[in-house]
Amino acid sequence: MSTPQMGIFSLGDGSHSFIEFALRGSPPANDVVVAVASMHDQRKTTDAVNLVVGFRPELWRAAAPADAPADAVSFDRALVGPDGYSMPATQADLFVWTAGPSYDVVFDIATAIIGHLAKVVVPVREVAGWTYRVNRDLTGFEDGTENPSLEEAPGIAIIPDGQPGAGGSILLFQQWRHKTDDWRATPVAQQERVIGRTKSDSIEFDASVMPANSHVSRTTVDENGQERKIFRRNTPYGTVGDHGTMFVGFANTRDPLQRMLERMAGIGDGVRDALTRFVTPLTGAYYFVPALSTLARFAPPAD
Ligand code: HEM
Repeated sequence: MSTPQMGIFSLGDGSHSFIEFALRGSPPANDVVVAVASMHDQRKTTDAVNLVVGFRPELWRAAAPADAPADAVSFDRALVGPDGYSMPATQADLFVWTAGPSYDVVFDIATAIIGHLAKVVVPVREVAGWTYRVNRDLTGFEDGTENPSLEEAPGIAIIPDGQPGAGGSILLFQQWRHKTDDWRATPVAQQERVIGRTKSDSIEFDASVMPANSHVSRTTVDENGQERKIFRRNTPYGTVGDHGTMFVGFANTRDPLQRMLERMAGIGDGVRDALTRFVTPLTGAYYFVPALSTLARFAPPAD
C-alpha cells in the first residue's frame, strides 16, 4: 500500500513557509528527485514540522514515468475569462511547504532544505503564511467549512492504489492578494452574498437565495448529479499593508481544480465569481505530490 505525504492532512499548524524553486541549470530529472528523496534529516518527528513536496508534473514524469498520473500537467498558460480577468501561470519546478507550530522551527527547517537542495534547484518565490483566528481567511470568513473531513479527505485528495501515481496528489497552488480596503468598504450583508455563506457562523445560503455568482456557486462543480470535491488547505499570508490567501488545493485528478478555476473566471457561462472582484491572483502552478513510499525508492541508503 502506498503512503501519501502526511503534511497534506496535518491541520492545525500556525506557521508556514511556501517555497517554489527553479532548476539550477539543467540537472537530470532523476537527480532532482533523488535530492528531494534524501532529505532524511528534515523529516525527523522531533522537529515537529510537516512537509509537502511537489514536482512540476513533467519533471516528475521524466524521472518516474510509470508513477505519473496521465492528467497531471503544468499551469502553462494564463487562464483568461471572457471579460479579460486573468489568472497568471507562474509554474516552477519544485514546491516545498514547511509547516509547524511556530515560525522559528519552520524557518530553520526551510533554511536547511534550501541548503540541501542547492545543487539542483534555486528558490524563485518564498512566502510566509500564518493562521488567522484558527480557521478564517483574511476576508474574515471561515475557510474550509465545506472541506471533506479528515476521514473522507484521502479518498478525494489521493490517487487510489493500482493507478499511475498511486498515493500521490495533484496540487493547485496560487497566491491571491486581497483588496482589503474594498472588502472592508463592502457591507457584511453584501460580503455574505459574495461568498454565499454567513460571516459569523458560515451557514450556507439556501438555494433559493444563493447568488449565481457567489464563490460557493462558482466552486460547486456537479457532474452527472455528483459533486466534484477537492481538499483545501488555504493559508493567510502577508503584512497589514499587503496580504491575502495562499490557495492550496489537493485532488486526485486535475480536472475539478481546473474546472473550479474556469468557473471562477466565468469561462463557459460568462458568470464571474464575485470574490474575484476583491482578490487578485499573483501566481499559479500545478504540482504532483508523490507518495512518500514512491519517493523513498529514489532515496540513497541512509548512513
Ligand atoms: C483568495 C482566494 C480564495 C478565498 C479567500 C476563498 C475563500 C473561501 C471561503 C470563505 C469559502 C466558504 C467556506 C468553505 O466552505 O470553505 C470557500 C469555499 C470554497 N472554495 Fe474558496 N477561496 C479562494 C479561492 C478558491 C479557489 C482558487 C478554489 C478552487 C480552485 C476554491 C474552491 C472552493 C470550494 C470547492 C469551496 C466549497 C464550495 C462548497 O461546496 O460550498 N476557492 N472559499
